[in-house]
Amino acid sequence: MKIILTGATGLVGAECVRLALNNPQITEVVALARKPVTVPDGASRSKLRSVVVEDLSQEYSEDVKEQLSGAHACIWNLAITPSKARALPANDVSKVCLDYTMTGIKTMASVASTEVPFRFVYTSGALSERDPSKSLWLNPEYRKMRGEVENRLLDYAVDTAGKVEVQVTKPGLIDHAGRFAAARTLLSATGLSNINVSELAAAELNQALGGFDKDTLMTTDLVRIGREALWNS
Ligand SMILES: NC(=O)c1ccc[n+]([C@@H]2O[C@H](COP(=O)([O-])OP(=O)(O)OC[C@H]3O[C@@H](n4cnc5c(N)ncnc54)[C@H](OP(=O)(O)O)[C@@H]3O)[C@@H](O)[C@H]2O)c1
Repeated sequence: MKIILTGATGLVGAECVRLALNNPQITEVVALARKPVTVPDGASRSKLRSVVVEDLSQEYSEDVKEQLSGAHACIWNLAITPSKARALPANDVSKVCLDYTMTGIKTMASVASTEVPFRFVYTSGALSERDPSKSLWLNPEYRKMRGEVENRLLDYAVDTAGKVEVQVTKPGLIDHAGRFAAARTLLSATGLSNINVSELAAAELNQALGGFDKDTLMTTDLVRIGREALWNS
């Protein structure tokens, strides 16, 4: 299987790269990013192709399309997270989170393998809101914009009549190297669940490889699928 990974220089995307390179079912990993993606320690270089594009809202060049062609799935981890979004104009954040994603899925679908539906796993967040009319007290504009991305992707999949399948993952806080270990009890008391980065990446790879359990996975589903996938690897 050939898989495209975006956000591969970030927390979740880098873990997806590491797990994908070590997965024998995956024959080729294309990392699409604005800067070169390096091979993580202990992973094999031979399966990784790093494709660099500076502005992913523009139509991709023929050369880039050629490198993406024939893929079976994509895991999209490219976004501006809420903490980084605060320092940027809302239009710039929306361009990256929404325009890049929609241009990405349409371009990838146009050159994807025709043998099976093209599977697109989109990492969103537990707090993203799909209902634009809902009143939110915390970060409403950003959360509704991310919810709009979810709606647009799911609608697009319907429009393709089965050629493209979309799954939205909605993790809570992502724990990395025990970052939230001390606060785990407190976090569970607030209701915002957390997931280890390897569990999330493993769950996303599992779904990209084996098919989607359902179109939206919340943290509890992701922890269960990810732990099982890691256990079996
Ligand atoms: N971290 C969490 O606790 C958490 C919790 C819930 C949901 N999520 C979601 O999970 C996904 C991945 O998050 P993360 O924590 O891995 O984020 P991250 O570490 O900040 O990584 C973001 C990725 O997006 C890329 N990116 C950002 N702006 C870009 C631009 N203008 N052009 C090209 N690439 C750009 C970054 O590339 P550069 O390295 O080039 O900047 C990086 O590869 C996001 O959708 C996030 O909202 C995260």
